[in-house]
Amino acid sequence: MDPAIPIAALSLILGAFIVLLFFANYFRNRRADVQSLAKPELQPDPKPRSSKSHQTISKKSHSKPHSHASDKDQNKKHHPLDVNTLKGHGDAVTGLCFSSDGRSLATVCADGMIRVFKMDDASSKSFKFLRINLPAGGHPVAVEFCDDASSVVVASQTMTGCSLYMYGEEKTKSSDGANQQTKPPLPEMKWERHKIHDKNGVLTLSGTAATYGTADGSTIIASCSEGTDIILWHGKSGKIVGNVDTNQLKNTMAAISPNGRFIAAAAFTADVKVWEIVYAKDGSVKEVSRVMQLKGHKSAVTWLCFSPNTEQIITASKDNSIRIWNINVRYHMDEDPKTLKVFPIPLHDSNGVTLHYDRLSVSPDGNILAATHGSTLQWLCVETGKVLDTAEKAHDGMLHFYANYIASIAYHNHLIHFYWILSLQLCPPPSRCYLSFGRLTTSESLLHFSSHAGDITCISWAPKNISTGDGEASLLATASVDKKVKLWAAPPLSS
Ligand SMILES: *[C@@H]1O[C@H](CO)[C@@H](O)[C@H](O)[C@H]1NC(C)=O
Repeated sequence: MDPAIPIAALSLILGAFIVLLFFANYFRNRRADVQSLAKPELQPDPKPRSSKSHQTISKKSHSKPHSHASDKDQNKKHHPLDVNTLKGHGDAVTGLCFSSDGRSLATVCADGMIRVFKMDDASSKSFKFLRINLPAGGHPVAVEFCDDASSVVVASQTMTGCSLYMYGEEKTKSSDGANQQTKPPLPEMKWERHKIHDKNGVLTLSGTAATYGTADGSTIIASCSEGTDIILWHGKSGKIVGNVDTNQLKNTMAAISPNGRFIAAAAFTADVKVWEIVYAKDGSVKEVSRVMQLKGHKSAVTWLCFSPNTEQIITASKDNSIRIWNINVRYHMDEDPKTLKVFPIPLHDSNGVTLHYDRLSVSPDGNILAATHGSTLQWLCVETGKVLDTAEKAHDGMLHFYANYIASIAYHNHLIHFYWILSLQLCPPPSRCYLSFGRLTTSESLLHFSSHAGDITCISWAPKNISTGDGEASLLATASVDKKVKLWAAPPLSS
């Protein structure tokens, strides 16, 4: 007798039970999503919306069950900086980015869709958004705007490798602005590239309008593979304009500087390599060359970001520290980047063990560093390293926890096939399968994924202040496996 069989049976029964639980929850949530979604698309006119929100407030106890539920949902764990939640995603939100004017927020979701939300009023009860279906069979992992707020580049993972798609809007002259009822034409696919990193997946996309030196302002996007290579793409044409190899065993992430001059990569080792993108007179990329190395961390760098003026890089490391580096040095004369500041990571578990930051993002004014660990979001003062505020369980997603729990049982017992059958039969949308495509490829990412409910997958500051109903504010957006995107106000810098 194979000893694996009883374990298999047990896992299956347990799995089926959890799937049923999930299933029931899914439909309850789905109904609420659909109802709250129906509004923004059918009512482009803000007037009925405001009267509706008024009605919700004045007649709270008599309001419809779905709005009541979402009110309750929002009040449950309300953090003072929590401005709003964008709902309507059918599955884990895997990536997000703001357009350069801050008026649009694009997200990609494991349900296979790109959504572009209009950020006219961050405190709005419902957001107008555009939905683009990605080709089936892919699990989108990252998104970047390209050139303007109507074009996006998306990385989508398939069984055989990762694809890049660019969607752009056809420029059509609106005949008469009076008729707002007609929907704008859906963006269409402008180019697509497949197996961009051979069989490897894409970990991050980082894009910017390159303005340094002779660069012509067109968008350059860096795709960072889970291997050791990083490819630079010309956003509009989809042409490869550069290529670097980190030679560091395994990439973690890569970022392109806001002015398009540098690329920096966090990889397996403590040192961070920095490349310069050299532009020719005609604005095209001439070459990409290694220029600097940030040496000082004692353990792997988990994430990094550039300061808005491209003069500094902020790194977080497994050596429990954050470093701020001055990269405005004469590197061609062999001057090394200097560490300006070292801060201990101020986040600890209940036993006092320092936790590592998964993501960093610095505010557009350069004063506040947002950092995440799992589902915890923290704001630090860049000047002093002090904690300005913390949102524990900034996101929480029990539904995904169930699904991932099954996945992890299945994985550990080599029952992937059983999981497949279960997920295919019991979970109606194809989203479960997308999720498992992406997550079952490596045990490491699966373990990481399954260990925390509500993990934050992506964070980004809006590049410009956004209206919040009563005035403007600097906002941070976070995406999570809990199917939600949250908007957060910036904490005040301690006086
Ligand atoms: C943006 O909003 C913040 C408050 O969140 C404010 O302190 C700042 O001055 C604003 N910036 C601009 C450029 O309006």
